[in-house]
Amino acid sequence: MKVIFFNTKSYDRDYFAQANQQFDHELVFLEPRLNQDTWKLARGAVCICVFVNDGLDSAVLTELASHGLKLIALRCAGYNNVDLAAAHQLGVKVVRVPNYSPSAVAEHTIGLMLSLNRKIHRAYDRVREGNFSLEGLLGYNFNGLTAGIVGTGRIGIVVARILNAIGMRVLGCDPVIHPEAAVAGIEYTDLNDLLTRADVISLHCPLTTETRHIIDQAAIERLRAGVMLINTGRGALIDTKAVIAGLKAKKIGLLGLDVYEQEDDLFFEDLSSEIIQDDVFQRLLTFPNVLVTSHQGFFTANALKNIADTTLNNIREYEQGKPLSNQILLQALS
Ligand code: NAI
Repeated sequence: MKVIFFNTKSYDRDYFAQANQQFDHELVFLEPRLNQDTWKLARGAVCICVFVNDGLDSAVLTELASHGLKLIALRCAGYNNVDLAAAHQLGVKVVRVPNYSPSAVAEHTIGLMLSLNRKIHRAYDRVREGNFSLEGLLGYNFNGLTAGIVGTGRIGIVVARILNAIGMRVLGCDPVIHPEAAVAGIEYTDLNDLLTRADVISLHCPLTTETRHIIDQAAIERLRAGVMLINTGRGALIDTKAVIAGLKAKKIGLLGLDVYEQEDDLFFEDLSSEIIQDDVFQRLLTFPNVLVTSHQGFFTANALKNIADTTLNNIREYEQGKPLSNQILLQALS
């Protein structure tokens, strides 16, 4: 089947070309992101393949559907960038890769936590400049502290398991009680209780209307002073301006982000010779206790292979008229 890929980088092309040896689809790799200016590149396409920061709003979907689009293959787990209601109304099916590698994101989350706490990123620069002083690098033991996992799904459970093994008490909140959570040492509670008790908070819920700005000013007021806050979920789970105020007030002691609300204008591109226009983001980078990575939680060889295999298989299921094992149904909205 012919598939138009938007927003591809060299690693997408490499992994998909390799995986396609088993599928034999016709892959067309484009570099631009999908948006209201670029949809025309896929005029007449039955299937497109897109990533987290492609824009699939109602206007784009309407244009593509009127020119024959039937299937959107997301090469990611999250789907907050797709207007699912519009897709459903237009008869366009949406498939994704729900479970490509929870460990990839969980391990990156733990990496952010340990780097921030022990200031490994700062020590790296220091030592290379011949500065062997320990001033300002003081950390604390995680062992014996309390972690709070917001969203105890596939990724949250792996994070919990690792933190539990380090010797942390792990609180979790989730509208769904997962039986495997007990094995990971998770004690369920509600969000308010978690916010007031946890020393380290990590966000692993999807971005929905309900979870948008789940960490806002009111939530920050409840936090323990000096708390570590980690977000590898989606940028808009936190109100960044409120978090900056929380950092200035020293309520938030350490902040680790792999995602950012306005990341579409920044992440995945080399902007090192550009003037960054986003003043909120630039303010974040001025804090010595903030560590930002550019949405690389998923970025392991294992995950890229699984993403390519699953995406191409999702497309094959559609082509062969089989039930779509990874279809996102409209109920996912509620
Ligand atoms: P999952 O669907 O297995 O788990 C999400 C959990 O969040 C579910 O148990 C759900 O019930 C829970 N949840 C929903 N609403 C909630 C609320 N209001 N409060 C607390 N929990 C709530 O998803 P998975 O695979 O664990 O991924 C989680 C998120 O991680 C994805 O939605 C995606 O946004 C993000 N992600 C980030 C990546 C990165 O590279 N940084 C890569 C992959 C996913």
